[in-house]
Amino acid sequence: LLPTFCLVALAWFCGSLPFGYWAGRLKGIDIRKHGSGNIGATNVIRVLGKKIGLPVFVLDALKGFVPVFVASWWMQHREGTDINTATLVAALCAAASVLGHMFTFWLGFKGGKGVATTAGAMLGLAPLVLLIAIIVWVIAFYTTRYVALASILAGFTLPTAAAILMTINGTWNYVLLAFGIVIAVLVLVRHRSNISRMLAGTENRFERKEKKS
Ligand code: G3P
Repeated sequence: LLPTFCLVALAWFCGSLPFGYWAGRLKGIDIRKHGSGNIGATNVIRVLGKKIGLPVFVLDALKGFVPVFVASWWMQHREGTDINTATLVAALCAAASVLGHMFTFWLGFKGGKGVATTAGAMLGLAPLVLLIAIIVWVIAFYTTRYVALASILAGFTLPTAAAILMTINGTWNYVLLAFGIVIAVLVLVRHRSNISRMLAGTENRFERKEKKS
């Protein structure tokens, strides 16, 4: 039990690292006071550009991926650990890192929306499910130009795609399914302000760049 506790605690700590906030600080601003006010990569791209925002996305994703990868590796190399326990510990680490990001203690427990960190965690947990969610994200984003809507739909794709794949394979992994449902709901709740803005027609769209003629 102690190694599991340590892995989950480490995942939570990794997830809590507010890279978007620190990137803003490096550039002399408090990202929470600009754009959507979110500390995630989307807002960093919006306010500071891709050169700063994309590394933030990668770092936020890594803090989901690394703990899941380490936990899976650790559990697989431990004698007497069955696959269900290994998946459970990996999923707990995934949830811990996403929750760490959403409610980071570095910023008074007010953190991000968890999309990049979830993507990283899913890469370690269920890459095929992640791929389907990315396809949904890309389609939703390029048709609406709303990152938030694409993220919410991708969030709900996780449990849906997982359930479809499990039905096809005939093997049910309830831990993964439960993780997907919890994450989808959390991502939805964290996007409350975006939903209000979308309904009011004031949500910021990422418009295509005009080509210079
Ligand atoms: O990942 C967060 C994204 O879905 C929305 O970000 O800055 O538009 O609230 P933002």
